Amino acid sequence: MKIHQAEFIISAVRPDQYPEDALPEIALAGRSNVGKSSLINRMINRKNLARTSSQPGKTQQLNYYMINEQLYFVDFPGYGYAKVSKTERQKWGAMIETYLTSREPLKLILLVIDVRHPPTKDDQLMYDWLIYYNIPCCVVATKADKIPRSKWDKHLKVVQQTLNKRPEDPIVLFSSETGMGRDALWETILSFCHD
Ligand code: GTP
Ligand code: MG
Repeated sequence: MKIHQAEFIISAVRPDQYPEDALPEIALAGRSNVGKSSLINRMINRKNLARTSSQPGKTQQLNYYMINEQLYFVDFPGYGYAKVSKTERQKWGAMIETYLTSREPLKLILLVIDVRHPPTKDDQLMYDWLIYYNIPCCVVATKADKIPRSKWDKHLKVVQQTLNKRPEDPIVLFSSETGMGRDALWETILSFCHD
């Protein structure tokens, strides 16, 4: 996919701040530090449009990025970071639940998982939540560059089994470092936008 426009739009904390133009939205959920913002940057081939950090728990709002005047990436705050207070966690839960249950332009969630490790309890809860709300989901197993190619299949299997992934939900092996999986993921995203 050729990117001719990519722009940060807003850090939204309330639904009345979400864009009103009804472009399709692709949201990214995943643990703190798993690589959600890096994935966005790789998908649009910009080094630093989506803010990345080696400090977990930094993204606290829904960050909207408009791509090719055609769709939005919505970068969720990461979950599962131990040092986040209970109040913050509850705020996160309420914001995400409102978004998931009422956001009409939402077309697909990218559930971003670290391919090196089995999905955590939080990853499993997130996936079960998506199924419960009937939200289309693509599992993205990222950081593939961090394990040898010979282990990819085995690790992908563990990810799918631990999540109890439904066969109809696609899974893409990805690396923000090398760009592996970028074309396959764009293809998946566009197919859900056009449905
Ligand atoms: P939060 O916003 O805190 O939830 O984190 P995030 O999920 O947006 O993670 P982010 O993209 O900021 O990446 C976290 C760290 O992982 C950074 O140091 C990235 O450089 C690194 N990283 C992300 N993706 C990859 C990848 O595919 N390969 C490698 N080697 N490193 C990655
Ligand atoms: Mg981030």
